[in-house]
Amino acid sequence: MCGIVGYTGKNQATPILIDGLERLEYRGYDSSGIAVSNDSGIEIIKSKGRLFELKKLTNGTKPEGVTGIGHTRWATHGGPSDENSHPHYSRDKKFAVVHNGIIENYLELREFLSERGFTFRSETDTEIVSMLLEYYYGGDMLDAIIKLRNKIKGSYALGILHDGEGGAFYALRKDSPLVIGLGEGENFIASDIPAILPYTRKFIIPDEKEVAVITPEKVTVYNRNKETVEKKITVSDLSADAAEKDGFAHFMLKEIFEQPGAIKKTVHDRITPDGIKLDGVKLNGNDIRKIYMVACGSAYHAGAVGKYFIEKLARLEVETDLASEFRYRNPLLGSDCLTVIISQSGETADSLAALREAKRRGSRVLAVVNVVDSSIAREADDVLYTRAGPEIAVATTKGYTTQVAVLYLLGLKLAHDRGTVSADEYSSLLSELKRVPEKLGAFIDEINPQAQYLAGKYYPAQDAYFIGRGADWSAALEGALKLKEISYIHAEAYAAGELKHGTISLIEKNSLVLGIAAEPALREKTLSNIKEVRSRGAAVIGVTDSPDSIKAECDDMITLPQTHPALTPLFTAAALQLFAYYVAAARGGDIDKPRNLAKSVTVE
Ligand code: M6R
Repeated sequence: MCGIVGYTGKNQATPILIDGLERLEYRGYDSSGIAVSNDSGIEIIKSKGRLFELKKLTNGTKPEGVTGIGHTRWATHGGPSDENSHPHYSRDKKFAVVHNGIIENYLELREFLSERGFTFRSETDTEIVSMLLEYYYGGDMLDAIIKLRNKIKGSYALGILHDGEGGAFYALRKDSPLVIGLGEGENFIASDIPAILPYTRKFIIPDEKEVAVITPEKVTVYNRNKETVEKKITVSDLSADAAEKDGFAHFMLKEIFEQPGAIKKTVHDRITPDGIKLDGVKLNGNDIRKIYMVACGSAYHAGAVGKYFIEKLARLEVETDLASEFRYRNPLLGSDCLTVIISQSGETADSLAALREAKRRGSRVLAVVNVVDSSIAREADDVLYTRAGPEIAVATTKGYTTQVAVLYLLGLKLAHDRGTVSADEYSSLLSELKRVPEKLGAFIDEINPQAQYLAGKYYPAQDAYFIGRGADWSAALEGALKLKEISYIHAEAYAAGELKHGTISLIEKNSLVLGIAAEPALREKTLSNIKEVRSRGAAVIGVTDSPDSIKAECDDMITLPQTHPALTPLFTAAALQLFAYYVAAARGGDIDKPRNLAKSVTVE
């Protein structure tokens, strides 16, 4: 949701800013811009459209100067246009600002500034930041930024340039991600570590409302009381090419193929001869009365798989909740509850707010997060990392399946604590979970051409319905989201038994239905629902590990490998990801950057 980058050092800023923006483009891509300070002041170049529009304007080299900030936008206030693109100047052009987040009281502040003679060039909330800096500046930038911070409400990661400051620029954050990269004679800011990995592996993360003054030689961080604070330096172990496509046509395809390795990293060393070890997280299933799984989008769907698994195995009540609902619905939480916040990015605004709400109400919070040291990881009581590595495609794949894998580990641990799983089933699930990476690798290779074939046949579909029961329904939710977000085909997931209560009226000749029938105890039931849609003309792709039992009622089949029945959602997910990918490719969509979306949703 907007990416920001900043640089100061001995090199020209523009190529470094553009390179950083290229790596951040997944965060928003409707416009972009840079501001560089040099002897003639602050120069801004910005443009509506994809980054290549900006690259054309800058020619990769202009403006010249060694200190600058850049931005790639996902529009919130004001549509994509040259004027609404960041950076934004102050009235006197002495300040330039890039922003990720939302200034919630911007209308009130716009009025405040208008009454004092300021006029605005854009419709954005951000422009009031540069104007307020001009208004408050009385010779000391730190004071001006602190006054600004006291005035604005909402979420922000800000990069600020001030004319005449030599090589210095400034950063400030609250509820939006920001890292500061430490180099040799040069320093950086970025919304995300991979954006600046080619330049440095050393990072610090400012806390809420901290202000950083960044020069080529040093970074000074001030807390809320204007005292300097020592920050912990972390050294990233991500590889600099983690954000490269490695010969794949798209990041999404690369990330689908990375799933076996990512799941292996996520589960293997947590399954030990002495049982499941959850990174020192001290949890006992007997102390928990109820679990809330809270998340957004695909992470919520992972929680739904977790719910079925944990309830069945650990006999513990689990409620899944959308973070945007949970945070406002006065949930019945207490110290006997465990709230599990699931998030790939660790920065999703609603999930972060839900985490804070759960803590406020006395619940212990366990985060299942991919991005190390992200806000959700830092604020939770405990964290289990998913170890998927950087995920660049907007549509999550390995982020989702590693979340499911962590929830399997959690469920097994809780069931073991509570004595609700037999020794045989426990060890059979553990050994099967360890074998998932190998089986999934073989399955992805095998199903890849079949997914292409099916996509070639069904890509003109206008609507698609994904049906299933139990954990297959959870898998259906994720399959439908994958298809709709990248192919733009209207897709709905339905609990198979619920279809006849209304939605079946939409089924007509050639409606596409993906019938997921992997759960053995429910297969016959789902088969009846498949028959119901087929008899109304639907074309059905059956998804099952037991093809003989349903193929007579299906037009095409996706055959899942044999595994423990509880683990099939991982394989279903991979097959449906590939199907969605190839359908989107056949329809000519922009697969890694689907329209209207952004990777990390840091606004409400
Ligand atoms: O980073 P998070 O896991 O918190 O993100 C949650 C959702 O925004 C995300 O899963 C979204 O639904 C993806 N577009 C799904 O592919």
